[in-house]
Amino acid sequence: MLKLLIFSLILNLYQVNSLQKRFPFDDNLCGIMSESAGLIHGGKLSKKAQFPWMAIISTENLGIWSHYGSGSLISHKHVLAYAGSVSYHDNSNKLIPVSVDRIKIYLGAIEYEKLDEPGSLKVGVEKISNHPFVRKVLPSLYVHQISILTLDQDVIFTQFIRPVCLWPFKSDLSEIVGKEAYAVGYGRDETGKDSLIRKHVRLTIQENCDNFFERELKFQNETELFCAKGNENEGPCMYDSQLYMKIEQNWFIKGISSTIETLENETCNMNRQTLYEDIEQHVPAIQLLMLE
Ligand SMILES: *[C@@H]1O[C@H](CO)[C@@H](O)[C@H](O)[C@H]1NC(C)=O
Ligand SMILES: *[C@@H]1O[C@H](CO)[C@@H](O)[C@H](O)[C@H]1NC(C)=O
Repeated sequence: MLKLLIFSLILNLYQVNSLQKRFPFDDNLCGIMSESAGLIHGGKLSKKAQFPWMAIISTENLGIWSHYGSGSLISHKHVLAYAGSVSYHDNSNKLIPVSVDRIKIYLGAIEYEKLDEPGSLKVGVEKISNHPFVRKVLPSLYVHQISILTLDQDVIFTQFIRPVCLWPFKSDLSEIVGKEAYAVGYGRDETGKDSLIRKHVRLTIQENCDNFFERELKFQNETELFCAKGNENEGPCMYDSQLYMKIEQNWFIKGISSTIETLENETCNMNRQTLYEDIEQHVPAIQLLMLE
């Protein structure tokens, strides 16, 4: 309880102090993609040097390791993940991080099941810190849904393993509406037979969200949400996709997906929007969790 109180006090201080200020970032270190020229529209397979901050989260259950979500490398030692993919619910529906020996992270890997991919790295996790206010408010929505995984070693950056920048700007939605963004995650092909492969989809940030998200948007009193939509009949049909935007020379993480519009048969509707939780509001919390 005391920890929560201190946490909110520090967060408030941070927010008051940084109203005018941007968070600093090292533009030589983060958000650098050496092969962005090949980025194309639609749900395309990524090349190895594209989105080099993508992390695969693998967890063990009853002796079997399986893909459980994706994350973003944000420093030599930290991965930002969707809290739901590294936690379980206790009796009171609280999100409790899984035990660290049941989780492994793959970096620099395009294909999940190909274990010894050149240039890839498998690392363990020392600590999982969920945002203290993460909460499931609807079956389809978590708020403050972020978790910081501290790796058990400092990783060396290469062309295939590099961090993404945290969103350092104070921005209004109006400043990003109509801009291009990329959702990246690990998916299978249509047959579902191939191994999981890193894929990306180009999206556009929307000014308004569809009525479909009416219930979720009621929680804008607790968190900042926005919608993005795929181009040319391609949507981010991956639950744990994170959203990246390029500003000048660097790539930034801007959102973490919350809710997708499904068809009546529960399959993803690629022509519709995806609801994202904005990362901007969480940057101070992320920085605090990285210090923990
Ligand atoms: C925000 O709004 C929702 C829906 O109206 C409500 O259930 C929730 O308690 C509100 N949260 C806060 C912190 O006021
Ligand atoms: C779900 O419905 C859509 C549109 O009605 C259809 O195109 C698609 O094949 C269906 N998928 C499955 C798995 O039934």
